[in-house]
Amino acid sequence: MLKAHGADVIVCPTNVEPTDPRSYYSIAEKLSKEIPNSFWCNQYDNLSNTQAHYESTGPEIWDQTDGKITHLIVGVGTGGTVSGTAKYLKEKNPNIKVWGIDTYGSVFKKYKETGIFDEKEIYPYITEGIGEDILPKNVNFDLIDHFEKVTDKDAAIAARRLAREEGILLGYSGGSAMAGFHQLANRFTADDVVVIIFHDHGSRYIGKIYNDDWMRERGFLDVELKVRDVLNKKVVKGFISVDKKDKLKDILKLMKANDISQLPVSEGDELVGSITESKILEHILNNPLKNIDTQAEEILDPAFPVVSLDMPVKELNKYMSKTNPAVIVKDNMGASHIVTQYDIIQAL
Ligand SMILES: Cc1ncc(COP(=O)(O)O)c(C=O)c1O
Repeated sequence: MLKAHGADVIVCPTNVEPTDPRSYYSIAEKLSKEIPNSFWCNQYDNLSNTQAHYESTGPEIWDQTDGKITHLIVGVGTGGTVSGTAKYLKEKNPNIKVWGIDTYGSVFKKYKETGIFDEKEIYPYITEGIGEDILPKNVNFDLIDHFEKVTDKDAAIAARRLAREEGILLGYSGGSAMAGFHQLANRFTADDVVVIIFHDHGSRYIGKIYNDDWMRERGFLDVELKVRDVLNKKVVKGFISVDKKDKLKDILKLMKANDISQLPVSEGDELVGSITESKILEHILNNPLKNIDTQAEEILDPAFPVVSLDMPVKELNKYMSKTNPAVIVKDNMGASHIVTQYDIIQAL
């Protein structure tokens, strides 16, 4: 989006010290000095950030809940949102509880609970917008009653759930806030009025949390991979089989041309067996003189098992082995397809 508006985008590494000249903190400061007529907002340490939330977000929440808010739950990044909003709300009612949402890989929670800035708490994480490897001036720890950490996975799943069940498309930190709320659920009573701030909407995350492949690659999706998914991911589609009367030399040629190492063997419309490259090789080595005209039916293995499109991939190990490297699956149109161990590895 920025590029579309004509901006030069400089992507900075996050796995470097904040003081490292490559960090986004350092690059932003440097650019502000180099570019004439530029302004470094410094969202982290510029207390106008907190002030803006004190003047806007705090009063907005107080008015819209008619002063009945009992808990504020909000992700903490630079701290401006939580500190400004909490300051206003606690001035109105000091009993309001403020719970900050943090990520794993961030220093906030441990610092709040022990006063220790523990570098061992710092590691890269996927959640965007919250958690830090520094203590920004905008985080006012005295106003935050408790920090709750949320994993990358739980945040993504919470965001997806809210989109599906409530029609609210959130960004990552919104998912964190929602998941944190669920983690803290047993601390509320029926009379509590809980406000959760969602910082961002989901349109920027369509390729991430709302993309099944992205979720699956990170192990965030608990839904099982099915045979149907493996089939959908196959690059080379189409079904190749040989006749049981076909000669091994022709079958080998076919395998080589299509870069495959196993084939179903048919008799008319029926699949009567299977043949593998290794079986052909074994036959050639054992019978060096008569292999040329051998027909498939002489060294046939049993036909590949037929499985359903909806079978979970993890159940395929019952059907696949060293001696049986593939299964057959029929699609919704009745066409047959072969699914091999290689296809499964590709899909995973
Ligand atoms: C998407 C998103 N979520 C959460 C936050 C955290 O808010 P704050 O920096 O006010 O703590 C930000 C801050 O910029 C953000 O961009």
